[in-house]
Amino acid sequence: MNAPLVRSLEARYYTDPAIFAQEIAGLLSRTWQLAGHRAQIPNAGDYFAFEIAGQNLFCIRGQDDVIRCFYNVCQHRAHELVSGTGNTRVVVCPYHAWTYELTGGLRAAPNSKSVPGFDRSAICLTEARCEDFNGFLFVNLDPHTAPMDEWFPGVREELAEYVPNIDLLAPLEWVEIPENCNWKVSVENYSECYHCSLNHPTFAEGVVKPETYDIQPSDKGYVLRHTTECQNLENMTYPIDMSVEHAGEYRSWFLWPMVSFQCYPGNVLNTYHWRVRDVDHCTVYRGWYTEGGAESDVIRALAVQDRKTTVEEDIHLVESVYRGLKSRGYRPGPLVLDPGCGVNSEHSIERLQAWMKEAVDG
Ligand code: FES
Ligand SMILES: [Fe+2]
Repeated sequence: MNAPLVRSLEARYYTDPAIFAQEIAGLLSRTWQLAGHRAQIPNAGDYFAFEIAGQNLFCIRGQDDVIRCFYNVCQHRAHELVSGTGNTRVVVCPYHAWTYELTGGLRAAPNSKSVPGFDRSAICLTEARCEDFNGFLFVNLDPHTAPMDEWFPGVREELAEYVPNIDLLAPLEWVEIPENCNWKVSVENYSECYHCSLNHPTFAEGVVKPETYDIQPSDKGYVLRHTTECQNLENMTYPIDMSVEHAGEYRSWFLWPMVSFQCYPGNVLNTYHWRVRDVDHCTVYRGWYTEGGAESDVIRALAVQDRKTTVEEDIHLVESVYRGLKSRGYRPGPLVLDPGCGVNSEHSIERLQAWMKEAVDG
């Protein structure tokens, strides 16, 4: 007897604002999110501000060279402390000039000496969990969460193996892609290649060999690994040095719920990460890196090619799907689960949707 068909997730998981609110307060506040790269803040006092799960935060490098992440809020009467990027000796609140050390402790507050019982040492900025993952700074708003190596076993080491110069990398280019769809539609589209041969001719013909493509969920942890061989060298759209180990492979590590490291043939690292805007909108960021952020025509051209082809093609797909999810005529169809897996199977979607459902329904 055949097992019952596995159906795609009901539309309300993508379209219902109440479910989105639940994800913000729950899932997105309890998972590791990509904040930035340590090369953005090389010197003591360098900082950058960002937002995760509706919370304003900033990462700052201390005199002790430790990078910390704080909620971007003064402990006096809640003014925001910093915006954008910059460098500072101490963090000074623009409202009443309360001043904090780079380690978060309150250093001075005007006229506080006249306040009986005012204890400066009892006041400090609220810190959030921050990890350096091969140079990439991840933040998790759950103070009790497990470290990244438990969430994503083996990935740190595999990345270092596939990208031997990963410790020297710095961002060269960011590409920002606003999409009119719920974040989960975009993440799912990223996580299957059943649509690739029809929709991504450049990726399928110039970067990878679709017949060798596979996406496997990890046995442990929350990772989806994409693997494939690269095209014959004469079909590649850019030159690669085959003497480096793994140069002929494509890999990608998707870290639930919204970050992915990709290694293109030629050991070229690039990243995808998502930020939610509201239930109906998300933004995808593509990051491209070189050693020390050095200029590279090859990487710039790759970023442009990717933006014009794969990314552009995907925008139309996800936005159409999202309009479809709001149709009264949609009944969730069966996922195409090939027992042999491979490029035309949606077993990665089955796993992803199980995580999505678990995040909402427990
Ligand atoms: S709110 Fe920051 S000093 Fe008053
Ligand atoms: Fe795609």
